[in-house]
Amino acid sequence: GSSDAASGDGGGGGGDTIVVGFAQTGSESGWRSANTESMKTAFSEDNGFELVFNAADNDTAAQIAAVRGFINQGVDAIVIAPIVEDGWDDVLTEAADAGIPVILEDRTVSASEDLYAAWIGLDFEEEGVKAGEWAAEMYGDEETKMVVLEGTTGSAPANDRATGFDAAIEGTMIEKIDSQTGDFTRDGGKSVMEGFIQNYGVDNIDLVYAHNDDMALGAIEAIEAAGAVPGEDIKIISIDAVHDGMQALVDGKINYIVECNPLLGDLVAAAVTGVINGDDVEAVQYVEDLAFDQAAAEAALPDRKY
Ligand code: AHR
Repeated sequence: GSSDAASGDGGGGGGDTIVVGFAQTGSESGWRSANTESMKTAFSEDNGFELVFNAADNDTAAQIAAVRGFINQGVDAIVIAPIVEDGWDDVLTEAADAGIPVILEDRTVSASEDLYAAWIGLDFEEEGVKAGEWAAEMYGDEETKMVVLEGTTGSAPANDRATGFDAAIEGTMIEKIDSQTGDFTRDGGKSVMEGFIQNYGVDNIDLVYAHNDDMALGAIEAIEAAGAVPGEDIKIISIDAVHDGMQALVDGKINYIVECNPLLGDLVAAAVTGVINGDDVEAVQYVEDLAFDQAAAEAALPDRKY
């Protein structure tokens, strides 16, 4: 028979079906949609799971409340894509006390590694380094005024993509004139870019580093509305390599994209099953990312899965 989410047998795997509570960040980006789909496919009934899905709309308090809800329901395991890095100690301790294993996917937390069984995701700092190295190589020898569209404040990808990029452009002629959060959304990227254009003038911005494709796509709209040509007058580098971003790269509106692979579902499901069965599960699992210039994007786009 299948275990019952309300039966309070958390941690034991009360039957053939593994009940998993998944606390997703929200639905801020194309990347997030692809990640949610990957998770729902991997945690399907056919694969022996019952998935209790929650998307917190980027609200950290709501996400923590959702995790508490899963603990109270007595699910067999909890998967979290943590919106921000800090503030997880209490609720992760509560899950541990209830005997419910926690697996993190995508973003990292600052809490002790003892408080979760495994983490599966991407090396965000390395993504930033790759983006920065390309910027340094292409634009580092001439005076380049750069603005940054940051991801959600306090999130691991926003923190680490900034650190990696900044390290890679050190000593070059790229100057960061401003950096603000666009919250990983297209609307956010657009309105922050509009503000930058208003403050500095469209002719005084040479380069945009966007922490994800969606914000770059919003910036493209703002740049075009100001009468400039994205990818030419203002160069754009972003991260994710979702379909719309890759199309903009092929169209010459974005100049370079570092991949962030959202297809983590199968690895996360394997980790959950392993942890519940008491197997040795690798505690830290990095997934490989590629990077694309225009020619590489043209070659890759037809076969992209997201
Ligand atoms: O945590 C991964 C990031 O979250 C992706 O780069 C971004 O698009 C998403 O919102």
